[in-house]
Amino acid sequence: MNPVTIRSLQAYKSQQQTFAVITAYDATLAQLAADAGIEALLVGDSLGMVLQGQDSTLPVTLADMVYHTRCVANGNRRAQRPALIMTDLPFMSYGTLEQGLASAREVMQAGAHMVKVEGDRWLVPLVTSLAQQGVPVCAHLGLTPQSVNKLGGYRVQGRDQSHADTMVDAAVALVEAGADMILLECVPADLGQRITAAVTVPVIGIGAGAATDSQVLVMHDMLGLNPNHVPKFVKNFATSGRTVNEALAAYNDEVKARTFPGPEHEFA
Ligand code: KIV
Ligand code: NA
Repeated sequence: MNPVTIRSLQAYKSQQQTFAVITAYDATLAQLAADAGIEALLVGDSLGMVLQGQDSTLPVTLADMVYHTRCVANGNRRAQRPALIMTDLPFMSYGTLEQGLASAREVMQAGAHMVKVEGDRWLVPLVTSLAQQGVPVCAHLGLTPQSVNKLGGYRVQGRDQSHADTMVDAAVALVEAGADMILLECVPADLGQRITAAVTVPVIGIGAGAATDSQVLVMHDMLGLNPNHVPKFVKNFATSGRTVNEALAAYNDEVKARTFPGPEHEFA
C-alpha cells in the first residue's frame, strides 16, 4: 500500500475522519504500530524519559534523535503501509534559524518526513524557512515539556481566557507561516475544540479532549509499561490479556471510533 503522507492526513481532516499517532523509538515497535494501521509515528524526545530514564526531555541530544529516527525508519519501511514519521527537534537545537535548519536537515536525512518543534508565535520565522526548504513542520503548543523549568512543572495550559486566545492566534499564525500540523498537549477540551476548528491543518491532541483531528500517546504509557506517575489523559490498552499487537490495534480502533479519549481523560 502507498505510504501515509501529509496529503493523506490532510484528507482525513477534510473528510472529518480521525487518524491515530503513537510514539515509536525502535524498529520493531515502529513496524508493529504501522501494521496495526496507525498513520503516524512520533519519534518523541519523550525517549529521554522512557528509554534513558531522565527526569525531563532536556538532556536529549540531536544525535539521540537522529539515531532513533533511523531505527524507526528502518522498521517502518517493512510495514505493509509505512506510516508518516515525525521527529522532535530536541531542547535548544532550534533557538536560531540557522541552528533549526541544520537540526532539521539531520533528522530528515535520518528518515523523518516531518519535524516537530515546541513553542508559540516565536516559531513563525523558523516554520517559514523550513516550509521554504520543503520540510513539513508540526508546531507543538500548550504544555511544551522542553519549557518545564519556565512553566514551573507539567501543568495544564490555556486555562485562562487570555492565554487561550493567545494560543488560538499562535496556531493560526503558524499555519499561515506554513505549519502542516499542530500538536496540542494538556489544554482544556474546549480549547482543543476551538483550535481544531480555527485551523485548516490536522490537529493532534494529547490531553486536549476528544475534538481534535487525531490523538497521540506515548507507546510505553498505552502499553501499561509506565512504572511512575501516569498522567490523567493516558489509557492502558494492554489489558484483558491483549498482546502488544492487539493493544496497538485496540488503540487505533478506539481513536478512529472516537471512543478514546473519554471524559475521564479530559481537562475541563
Ligand atoms: O515527545 C513526545 O512523546 C511528545 C508527545 C508526548 C506529544 O512530544
Ligand atoms: Na516531545
